[in-house]
Amino acid sequence: MARKFDVVILGAGAAGMMCAIRAGARGRSVLVLDHAKAPGEKIRISGGGRCNFTNIHAGPKNYLSSNPHFVKSALARYSAQDFIDLVNRHGIAFHEKTLGQLFCDESAKDIIRMLLSEMEAVRAKLELQTGVTSVEGSADGFRIVTSTGETIEAGSVVVATGGKSIPKMGATGLAYDIARQFDLKLVETRPGLVPLTLDPGLLEKLAPLSGIAAPAEIRHGKTSFREALLFTHRGLSGPAILQISSYWREGDEITLVIEPDRRIADDLKAARKANGKQLVQTALSDILPKRLAQFFAEKHPAATKLADCSDKVFDAVAASIQDWRIRPAGSEGYRTAEVTLGGIDTSELDSKTMQAKSVPGLYFIGECVDVTGWLGGYNFQWAWSSGHVCGEAL
Ligand code: FDA
Repeated sequence: MARKFDVVILGAGAAGMMCAIRAGARGRSVLVLDHAKAPGEKIRISGGGRCNFTNIHAGPKNYLSSNPHFVKSALARYSAQDFIDLVNRHGIAFHEKTLGQLFCDESAKDIIRMLLSEMEAVRAKLELQTGVTSVEGSADGFRIVTSTGETIEAGSVVVATGGKSIPKMGATGLAYDIARQFDLKLVETRPGLVPLTLDPGLLEKLAPLSGIAAPAEIRHGKTSFREALLFTHRGLSGPAILQISSYWREGDEITLVIEPDRRIADDLKAARKANGKQLVQTALSDILPKRLAQFFAEKHPAATKLADCSDKVFDAVAASIQDWRIRPAGSEGYRTAEVTLGGIDTSELDSKTMQAKSVPGLYFIGECVDVTGWLGGYNFQWAWSSGHVCGEAL
């Protein structure tokens, strides 16, 4: 006799575990399947091991989706504050790092332990190292065949297997395969929150800058982010680049504004007044990391002693630092991307329950849906919110 559950959740990540907690609390028999050895592996490695579990400012504007309104209902019904209340109930200490980003004081494992203890309290079952071979509709729900060869019957199936990012950690395209199988539309996927690469010529020129970080504003069309910029041996990274990478497309140009709070041309004019004998490179070193100052000074051979420079030269130096246009060659891809853009087309899902409109009993939550948050705790908040509203509907 096949085992039977009200709900089978595929994927024990952030979204799947939250959904199991809600469905279990509402008296449903719940089984969570995951092919990994441990649940919540992405939670464990997130935020440098401290998990940036939400953002106090999380709202619809922080998400990319073909339908920007889709997130509204779930975020309103299970907000950042709701998750903070849960974290507080478990006595997990946390702090705001910057820009509303909340991190555990101790370890991301505290969040995993919290979710597992909540699952246990509502008797939601978790079975690890169990892959999913097939999901078929049946007379009274769904039949799931697992990698152990077992057939399990479920009234409802929740697909919470995440996106394609970091295949080394067990990411698969299972959610997209299931969506295709049930004739649901998909929005093309691409790596998001990912470092950008440069063509070999530019990379060689920027090689001396590898390892340098600086405050920057990165612009792409009308979108811009002010955070740190990092030069790497592969290209550009740092939070500001990761943020803009979700908007960037092949062939597009981005603009780097380094030290966006400063007016570098004015700073150089003031330095000239104070000490005309000073070299431009030395004056720039008061504003920028030394190697960066040298790099920009060398770009302008006419800019030697401050006293010998016209305002026009200062404007040109400032423009190269604060209106620096670069056409990235590509991105580092799913290997290092924090998230996957695109996914299950939101027009196929009910935004209040995450149920597929054309397949009663089939739900999609978390990263596999065409909803992608900014860097800064927004992606976990989407996992909690979509998981919670789905669990409420099961
Ligand atoms: P998630 O990927 O977490 O879970 C999917 C689960 O399904 C996994 O346990 C996987 O093993 C399982 N699975 C996949 N295929 C399967 C199959 N075929 N059969 C069975 N099981 C299968 N976000 C944020 O808000 N704050 C942060 O600090 C970070 N930091 C961060 C760091 C790094 C390095 C990465 C890669 C990502 C982040 N993120 C983040 C993003 C965040 O981790 C991500 O958005 C959520 O984990 C998505 O949650 P899901 O539950 O949807 O998928």
